[in-house]
Amino acid sequence: MCELGYETTTPEMRRRLKSILCDVRYRTLLAEVDGRVCGMIGTLSHASYEHNDPSGRILSLVTLPGARRRGIGRALIASAEKDFAHRAVTRVSLDTRFTRKDAHQFYDSLGYERNGWRFVKQLQFQRRRRPTLQEIRLKWRKRR
Ligand SMILES: CC(C)(COP(=O)(O)OP(=O)(O)OC[C@H]1O[C@@H](n2cnc3c(N)ncnc32)[C@H](O)[C@@H]1OP(=O)(O)O)[C@@H](O)C(=O)NCCC(=O)NCCS
Repeated sequence: MCELGYETTTPEMRRRLKSILCDVRYRTLLAEVDGRVCGMIGTLSHASYEHNDPSGRILSLVTLPGARRRGIGRALIASAEKDFAHRAVTRVSLDTRFTRKDAHQFYDSLGYERNGWRFVKQLQFQRRRRPTLQEIRLKWRKRR
């Protein structure tokens, strides 16, 4: 994720993966060369409002800078598409930033078409703190 520009600590990544890895709609595939991880792809298969078949999303894709242009990205996409096919997914989409010119050429070369825009908005809200055990007990006592 750091290679993609999203500064992430190991504990943060563990926390994210804890949710992702126990959700069967997600797939996380790694590319390894000589036992070293050199790329990953993360996907999601989900029911669609617009189409009868389930839809597929490529949520994350990256190969290490020193391992690029060796077919690793192509191999990761091929594995993800194979997995989508097993899940009866017939339509795959993804978001990519305007600035990721390499990625645009990569997806073009693999038959992905540009067909829309992405709109993003950061929502301002206060994350709700979990009540402490003491607070929960106090609440229950008041109810009685
Ligand atoms: C996009 C990315 C995953 C491609 O991975 P990769 O392992 O280098 O890709 P491949 O070697 O499998 O390339 C397959 C084909 O895509 C095209 N391609 C890939 N990178 C390209 C580039 N920089 N310029 C032009 N074409 C490119 C080529 O046609 C290439 O085939 P070729 O090498 O035989 O000509 C990698 O560049 C990356 O991690 N970039 C940074 C993160 C990123 O942008 N991720 C996508 C977020 S949506």
